[in-house]
Amino acid sequence: MAEWPMDKPEIRTVVTTLSAPESKILLNSFIMPKVFYGLAGLQMFSGSMPQFGRKRAFIITDKGVKDLAITTQKMLKVFGLETKIYDNVEPEVPLGSIKPVAEKMEEFQPDLIVAVGGGSVIDMAKASWILYEEPKTDLTNVDAMRPLGLRKKALIACIPTTAGTGSEATNVAVITDDSVEPHRKEGVVHPELYPDFAVLDPKFVVRMPQKLTLGTGLDALSHAVDCYLCRSSNEISDALAVRATKMIFNYLPLALRYPENLQIRLKTQIAAMIAGAAFSNGGIGTTHAVAHNIGALFKVHHGMACGVTIPYIIKFYAEVDDKYIYFAKELGIDGQEPDEILKNLVNFFVEFYRKIGAPLTMKELGISEQEFKDKLDIFAKYVVMDPTGPFAPRQFTVDEAKELLVDIYYGRLKL
Ligand SMILES: [Fe+2]
Repeated sequence: MAEWPMDKPEIRTVVTTLSAPESKILLNSFIMPKVFYGLAGLQMFSGSMPQFGRKRAFIITDKGVKDLAITTQKMLKVFGLETKIYDNVEPEVPLGSIKPVAEKMEEFQPDLIVAVGGGSVIDMAKASWILYEEPKTDLTNVDAMRPLGLRKKALIACIPTTAGTGSEATNVAVITDDSVEPHRKEGVVHPELYPDFAVLDPKFVVRMPQKLTLGTGLDALSHAVDCYLCRSSNEISDALAVRATKMIFNYLPLALRYPENLQIRLKTQIAAMIAGAAFSNGGIGTTHAVAHNIGALFKVHHGMACGVTIPYIIKFYAEVDDKYIYFAKELGIDGQEPDEILKNLVNFFVEFYRKIGAPLTMKELGISEQEFKDKLDIFAKYVVMDPTGPFAPRQFTVDEAKELLVDIYYGRLKL
């Protein structure tokens, strides 16, 4: 079984130390792409490429949204760029599927990589870009502390067709290690992976179906909430996380109700992007430790899995950390005593979920009780091993993880 960087205790220790609020006084940074957004976002982006000296764009997409890649291609051509489209990205980015894409880049020699698609397309663009720039890189063993050597050949732009992963603003490429059973979803994390450009055009997300709008919106919400509560967060990520949370509470129900409204869609795109910028600079914790493994073990959509965890994780963290009090205040939620504030905060989320028809338990995600019980031991073990561990405010044992998972499965919030 391949050992990923965060499997190594010494790396976890370094990351845990660097994530402490005290360390941030000494060393910190906040990195974001240049963002072009609005109805003329694609045009503004394409028009600025000659200023950045870009001449050859390799556009990565999948069959489902290829027409949007063609729209992008046409616009880039207007500004004089040579282009090539690769449309064969597989969902979840199997490790073995990355090198062939890098080889196609090598044939075309682009100076700009453009991802047009959902999370998997953007992940594939980042991962294949690494191998295009540095073919000898072992993607299962990327050390975030050492230079990768990117941008000698190309810059990277991301045009998301969903509003949730925030991948257009993150330093992560999520790939699936298909060399192990069960397959393991892992993130290649490196500061050089922040995209150079993000383009948010509401026309690219407007046809998202109801379920995907809900799932990706909940993914963004979990990024914002979990990041705010993480020990590794900072003032800039806090500001973005609060803003993103408020925007999702306001605009996700509206996007579900008026799916064709471009103004509303754009708000959800901005919320998802700033939530992505927040968590990739400020950390993310146990919502994703649990959700990564709900996805891997039970094949549930990432965003839906993330969404289910949020109320339980707020409570789980609150048993050892008081940042939820500040979060509640930011959201305008009151209470006399900490217990009352926590109860009101969690209920605020529960009511929101009921309003938008989001599942509140793992059982409601359609996972059978028998399958849940059969996999509980490995599930809890993987949650503890998850690379997000050092960022969370609560460190926990496998038995505590089991208790948490049982609570999420049956919907026991015990407030
Ligand atoms: Fe996520």
